[in-house]
Amino acid sequence: MQIPARLNPTFSKPSPAENDPLEEARRRLIVALDVPTAKEALDLVNRLERTCRWFKVGLELFTAAGPSVLEPILARGHSVFLDLKFHDIPNTVAGAVRSAASLGVQMMTLHASGGPAMLAAAHQALEGLEAPPQLLAVTVLTSMDQTQITAVGLDRTPAAQVELLAKMGLGAGINGFVCSPQEVATLRALAGPEAVLVIPGIRPAGATVGDQKRIATPADALRQGASYLVVGRPITQAADPADAADAIQKEMAEALAQ
Ligand code: C5P
Repeated sequence: MQIPARLNPTFSKPSPAENDPLEEARRRLIVALDVPTAKEALDLVNRLERTCRWFKVGLELFTAAGPSVLEPILARGHSVFLDLKFHDIPNTVAGAVRSAASLGVQMMTLHASGGPAMLAAAHQALEGLEAPPQLLAVTVLTSMDQTQITAVGLDRTPAAQVELLAKMGLGAGINGFVCSPQEVATLRALAGPEAVLVIPGIRPAGATVGDQKRIATPADALRQGASYLVVGRPITQAADPADAADAIQKEMAEALAQ
């Protein structure tokens, strides 16, 4: 599967997947910088940037360090996924999406459960930009199992809820989604080969699961149709984060080469 060229200037070159699965694996791994300070985040970038191309800045880091934390990461030529999961009225989310786009990030998230009007307003907010970031609608959080879904009043399985939200998002013009590895095959069939599917809930065999519920290994998630994998603690809390990233990329490369 080709990653759309506009996501990252480096993707405008032909994909080297056929010749170099390891390089393709490196392009498809996003490391979640879930740490409380800019210093810790940049230390991790220093340790990982030899092989990692994408870094995710989420609520913890962005709230503590502000937009300036993005600058050194972008300045070194890395791609940034700003994962703030917007969920508000359409006008507010459209403004937030415009503000986030002005920071120069390559991907950003909003909650699909904000509804079709909110998603359409966000989509329209990026129209006309020369290099718009990829909008990703978060379907159902990978930490939500059936008990959590039922507790918020939804009378559906996680898989059925993901499908409903994805269909709604596609109808609102969204072509990028975040879902768990367990729904990625269904979503790929639904959204087609061009959709950008970003998959957290990744745990290498034997890794600590933590609060995640709907998980899979890196190889499985790719085989099911993931465009990108998001990995946080299995890398950032490893004794040697660079070694952990290398091992995940090797597993991904083997799956891509098959
Ligand atoms: O540490 P771990 O690998 O579990 O981190 C997963 C990352 O992906 C976290 O930053 C989390 O916010 C994010 N995420 C997720 N589930 C979603 C969307 C994003 O776990 N549905």
